[in-house]
Amino acid sequence: MRRILRIIQRLFTSRALDESIKRNLKEIFPKGYDYRQFKVLQKDEILFSMVNFTPIIEWFMEKVIQPTGILEIGMEQGIFTSKLLELARKHKVPYYGIDPNIGESIKKEVPSGHLFEDISLRAIPRMLQAYPPYEFNIVFIDGDHNYYTVNRELDLLLQKFHKQSTPFVIFLHDVTWPNAFRDSYYNPETVPQKHRKRLLENGFINIESKEPDYTGKGLASGGGMFYASKEGGEKNGILPAVMDNLQKYSKEMELIFIIVPAVFGLGIITSLKRLNKRQREQLLYFTKSLKIFFPLLWTLEYNRLMVYGRYRKSIWELIQKDKSLK
Ligand SMILES: C[S@@+](CC[C@H](N)C(=O)[O-])C[C@H]1O[C@@H](n2cnc3c(N)ncnc32)[C@H](O)[C@@H]1O
Repeated sequence: MRRILRIIQRLFTSRALDESIKRNLKEIFPKGYDYRQFKVLQKDEILFSMVNFTPIIEWFMEKVIQPTGILEIGMEQGIFTSKLLELARKHKVPYYGIDPNIGESIKKEVPSGHLFEDISLRAIPRMLQAYPPYEFNIVFIDGDHNYYTVNRELDLLLQKFHKQSTPFVIFLHDVTWPNAFRDSYYNPETVPQKHRKRLLENGFINIESKEPDYTGKGLASGGGMFYASKEGGEKNGILPAVMDNLQKYSKEMELIFIIVPAVFGLGIITSLKRLNKRQREQLLYFTKSLKIFFPLLWTLEYNRLMVYGRYRKSIWELIQKDKSLK
């Protein structure tokens, strides 16, 4: 009798297992087994937009911190802005955007009082001094990627959140290569000269070396975007700006800092003190899962930037050859 029961039990268990595997595959391939159905959020030559972190950001807004308002610093063509507007509508909260150059299409979509066409270090103080106050608890920092700017952006925002007892989260872009330990400047003039690093003029930087490159390998410096000629050292790049602010505000707010090492690195700063038990558990689940995938993500990121650097070099060589033929 017991043997028969065991056989029946085994039969049911394996059927349940079968079902769960099928369900799992169905979740991954809802419209049949075809890779092309995966949603690609950005289709440029190299992924750079924060839009690629959408699944993480949506999960955060659902499970950890309910938005009361969203602030985006650094909007560029608005590819991520459109997604944030969608999320703001879904959660019925306002969206605010800061950028010295805001695209015309975004201006049509967002009420003009919610857009600040200026550099962040002028726009944030204006927002914080306004009455009635602008309400937001989710911030995306992706403007000018240098110590001077990010250190001050974080200081202003953490000062604001320090005065409140409600949950908040700051997402920062570019916390891994190339900006982790190297400043870059969209418009060097907006950073006072004594806080500016020596610029790399007409050179390249690549992930395979700390030294500047002049053979076309990697990302170009000069023209529209300048990198500091040296990586590392004091007050150079985004991570030192994060660390200085964590040191300043951590004790009071129990801040935690998480790095997702993909698409130039996503940093997440939040205060454990502002979260309830359930929210903390969700955050713990996130960090534990990330820990498992961290080495793989970093390897993929290193690989894509190495391959991209070498690809840019081959393009650059073709251009030089073409020039020498003329
Ligand atoms: C990397 S892009 C932003 C990309 C966008 N967040 C995305 O994920 O698709 C950086 C943007 O920051 C803007 N920017 C540059 N300096 C800034 C500053 N000091 N304050 C605010 N925005 C700045 C630039 O005009 C540019 O549009």
